[in-house]
Amino acid sequence: MHDCSSIEFDQGTWEKAQQVYTIVTQAVGAEHKGLFLVNKPDGKKALVVGDTANIARVLKSPTEFGFYGLPDDKQWRDGFAKSIKLMHQVLMPALMPRFMSSSIRTDIAEISRDFFREMVAFAEVGKPVNTLIEDFVTTVIFKCIIGSKISNEEMPLFRSSQKADLSETGQASTVISRILNEQTPLSVELLKTEKAENLYEGWAIEQLMSLVFAGAGTTSTFITMALARMALNPEMQSLIAAEKNAEAAPFTDAFLKEVLRLNPPVLTISREALEDNFFEEFGVSKGMEVILNLYPGLNDTNVFGAHCDQFAPERWLQRKIESSAFIPFGYGPHICIGRHLAMMEASILLKELCSMAELSLTSGFELPNVEHLGRATEIIQPLFLKSTFKG
Ligand code: HEM
Repeated sequence: MHDCSSIEFDQGTWEKAQQVYTIVTQAVGAEHKGLFLVNKPDGKKALVVGDTANIARVLKSPTEFGFYGLPDDKQWRDGFAKSIKLMHQVLMPALMPRFMSSSIRTDIAEISRDFFREMVAFAEVGKPVNTLIEDFVTTVIFKCIIGSKISNEEMPLFRSSQKADLSETGQASTVISRILNEQTPLSVELLKTEKAENLYEGWAIEQLMSLVFAGAGTTSTFITMALARMALNPEMQSLIAAEKNAEAAPFTDAFLKEVLRLNPPVLTISREALEDNFFEEFGVSKGMEVILNLYPGLNDTNVFGAHCDQFAPERWLQRKIESSAFIPFGYGPHICIGRHLAMMEASILLKELCSMAELSLTSGFELPNVEHLGRATEIIQPLFLKSTFKG
């Protein structure tokens, strides 16, 4: 079904877009939530009502035509496309399970145990664990992917609360430059590519920066939500602990997918239409920007079954869910290249924690309502966890 009803409104703030979005989603009802926000060249925005299948359709479109998140300048676009392709080539070996180093699981388990010790100490003094989770994720990227160590003094520069301040981002890039000069296998490869492909100076630093920034905030939001869901569902902790040494971990995997389904860290993805005729039934023509909201696709009862608003990991074990329907990491040519790392580190951390202690909340934690065009990291609350040691 391609419903092309659309509502136009003047260019406004993100908050205004959110308000319009909320009003329209309530008005059209649950089965009709494949909504896109279109930025039109005349400065207006339009909200288009469609079905959720269109989300995957837009994401899947190949980069040569259809949608591509780039400005309409051929030279810039070609340069950017080349840069992304090279970045993928260099990073893929570090981020794909079949190429990942054999020690990565052991390293993540060790970092998880350090996390647990600090978590216990944080609970004793009544501190929330949010920054600890951010530091866990950053440590994993630096140690396991970049192959370097980040000091305690440098760590705050990579926390999302500080990143908003540009001067901190500047300091973070100084740390990255230092690490680039350490000649880790990844930095050698990036610098070699920068030179061999005649790319602009600083390309390698930019790629490492994007790797850390794309991977840290998203994964820490994910892990914060996973720990909160775990503390809220104590009966699931023993199912996760039971899978600690098993070859496959179907329940832990289902649990994590359900966390991402209900609390996707990335809520919107934008693309620019490269051609007039790709999506014209929605009034989207060349040059228009389309902002997709991933949430409706992750709450489609046709795909995920009834009671989509409920946290029920077993749904993943009871029905076959197509991979194209699981879109918290995007889909198609730009699908997240860090998705395996994010799933792996969350799985190892949860299994380690559940095997050592029972986790509970020491103060209320309200799960964010992400059924609007918000940004997940901004709506995360402080998470206070307590551990009761096992046996
Ligand atoms: C739960 C954690 C994560 C979530 C939810 C997430 C989500 C996403 C999404 C939705 C996209 C696609 C954007 C688009 O289509 O325009 C993306 C792209 C990307 N992600 Fe992730 N991500 C996560 C973790 C990571 C990690 C751990 C890394 C690296 C260490 C990473 C690196 C990247 C990069 C480099 C891209 C750009 C790929 C491209 O444009 O071709 N992400 N991510």
